[in-house]
Amino acid sequence: MVTVPASPSGPPSRVEFDEASGTVLLRTADTAYILRVDREEGTVRHIHWGAPLPLADAVSLPVWADHADSFAGRWDGVEEFPVEGGARFGVPAMEVRFADGSSPVEARVEDVVLRGGDHVVVSLRERTRPLAWRLHYRVPAGGGVLERWTEFVHTGTADDGDVLLVRYASAHWPLPQRPGWRLSSVHGGWSAECRLERTGLPVGETVLSSRRGHTGHAANPWVALDAGDSGEEQGEVWVIALAASGSWRITAQRTAAGRASVVAGEGHEGAELRLEPGDRHRTPTSLALHTAHGFGEASRAVHRHLRAHVLPHPEELRPVLYNSWEATSFEVTEDNQRALARRAAALGAELFVVDDGWFGGRDDDRSGLGDWTPHPGRFPRGLRPLADEVHRLGMAFGVWVEPEMVNADSDLYRLHPDWVLHLPDRTATELRHQLVLDFSRQEITEWALGWLEQMIAENEVDFIKWDFNRSFTEAGAREGGPDAKRVHIQHARGVYRVLDRLRSDFPHLRIESCAGGGGRVDPGILGRTDQVWPSDNTDAVDRLTIHHGFGQLYPAGVMSAWVTDSPNPLTGRTVPLRFRFHGAMAGVLGIGADLTRWTDTELAEAAELIAVYKDIRPVVQHGEQFRLLAPGQGPLTAVQYLGEEGARVVVLIWRPSTAFGPAQPPLRLRGLQEQARYRDEDTGGEWSGATLTGFGLPLPDLPPGDCASALVRLRRVEGTEA
Ligand code: DGJ
Repeated sequence: MVTVPASPSGPPSRVEFDEASGTVLLRTADTAYILRVDREEGTVRHIHWGAPLPLADAVSLPVWADHADSFAGRWDGVEEFPVEGGARFGVPAMEVRFADGSSPVEARVEDVVLRGGDHVVVSLRERTRPLAWRLHYRVPAGGGVLERWTEFVHTGTADDGDVLLVRYASAHWPLPQRPGWRLSSVHGGWSAECRLERTGLPVGETVLSSRRGHTGHAANPWVALDAGDSGEEQGEVWVIALAASGSWRITAQRTAAGRASVVAGEGHEGAELRLEPGDRHRTPTSLALHTAHGFGEASRAVHRHLRAHVLPHPEELRPVLYNSWEATSFEVTEDNQRALARRAAALGAELFVVDDGWFGGRDDDRSGLGDWTPHPGRFPRGLRPLADEVHRLGMAFGVWVEPEMVNADSDLYRLHPDWVLHLPDRTATELRHQLVLDFSRQEITEWALGWLEQMIAENEVDFIKWDFNRSFTEAGAREGGPDAKRVHIQHARGVYRVLDRLRSDFPHLRIESCAGGGGRVDPGILGRTDQVWPSDNTDAVDRLTIHHGFGQLYPAGVMSAWVTDSPNPLTGRTVPLRFRFHGAMAGVLGIGADLTRWTDTELAEAAELIAVYKDIRPVVQHGEQFRLLAPGQGPLTAVQYLGEEGARVVVLIWRPSTAFGPAQPPLRLRGLQEQARYRDEDTGGEWSGATLTGFGLPLPDLPPGDCASALVRLRRVEGTEA
């Protein structure tokens, strides 16, 4: 056996390659992922994804394959990157159309190259046609996540014509054989995002997708699979996610023989890509994780990965923000924003954000989008005097923008009607009275950068809330062609381009991603933004469900949550201030209420709760999250955070509605050191980790009635840790 260690003298390799057998082993702390490259056959077959195994065994493990007959593809579900061509009948990761209209692909393996100790590239090419593709595998340091992406290259000349990529997935992730499979995912809609669903995976193909040009509220680009027997803290779970912010598709397939696999890639059906000679296309990254410790650990491991490898400023604590949207809607003026800013600062807010309505002729949602100069009637002196006042009050200054959109009633549209997604003989559908600017076009992203940079510089803007309030329609390139729908993926790349430039030109700028709530939350946008707005629904009870689904993949440190007025404007529900605060304290706390109408008692209580939040913020935003009681499964919902190297514990408990029933048992905490002692910082009560884990935390008294909540802060007693 000749093994090629990736870094002979460096740290232990996370990728190993056995040249003789063609076996590649990717290793994380508790997972092995094994594939085998067969040069003669031109295949890259999957061997194993699960418990750690040594390379010495991996080299001789057989490929699990179904029996072959004249109706079945022998390697279906066991290839690393199935193409359309030959006896393959499963979901392809790659499907192409060559210039002569033919599709079947015959692959040849070119080489396997290790890049450092954490990255391997398997290169393949078409036997006779001008196409090469490279499968990239990377094992980032310090976690359980694997990353994969694919590069496609047109290797021919003008004589070969173009190659159309019909499917161009980032990865195909084969799973081991199990008697059955269960699929977890989130679905929803506007103001009802992130509903977690767990359901048996049927034999066949189950597709989650966005055909909207953005990540979407209807589904989020990740799935988790288990054999149907895993729980929150036990059992094997596989998670697959896609870092894409345009249209996307994830297909989970299960064969009658018990094989399951997942294809994850950008672009929905019909969103094809044309490669001209010399063109290259790199897919977004697909992330994947295996754990033997249940859904809770799967979430925590992805959170750790996002913090360590994706978020731009993971070491920072996100500030307590105030946002004007629910208080003043489109009626923002310099005066009312000053009044709100004074109250927000007095409460302890650290960032003041002026929402929609500050620009152009934006009197409501029918006009003004696209005209990014201050509204002459509302900010006659521009934004700078307000920005100065906010800074004087000791807060950072933030501004809402929606750069990808235009109202037909705007100077921009009158000047550039051809900048919007439209087709010459189709009605340009307006949604929320707005049209989408085609950010796949460089001249349009340059225009956006121009006004954004000027606005940020002139007003010393510290933060932007980047909104996006409608899905694509009539989204084809005007010049037509076989890949007219490419804008479904290239628009999002234009957005990335603008965000990347803003970040590099204004290193102090922090960004919130919003798309009518949670319509653009994904690991791709999180690489360029600091926090996301999960939902326009600010009802603190509804948010428990939304936060539960959101946290399956995304950490609390990016989850914006506001305390708004009661009754809630969307649901009409009346919720006590404390419950609203406890709800929003589960993420990045913000205030979105009309503070000028709050009583002195409410303001005093809010100031006290904001101070408590600042105390627990490092634990909530940077700690590990344990979902103790899920919403809807009993009277209580509870979440525990463990932070500051295990020295601090925060538990949030909510009871949305009261009902007579059995007394609640103590809450069994997780992740504590058994012999260490933990003191309740508010009551002085003290318990050992063993008691808190084995017996549980005695439930604090909750006030009677609906919408009761409590917060418990525990600190490890110094000197008692192991
Ligand atoms: C949708 C966002 O989700 C809201 O928070 C607010 O910013 C509005 N857009 C403004 O139009």
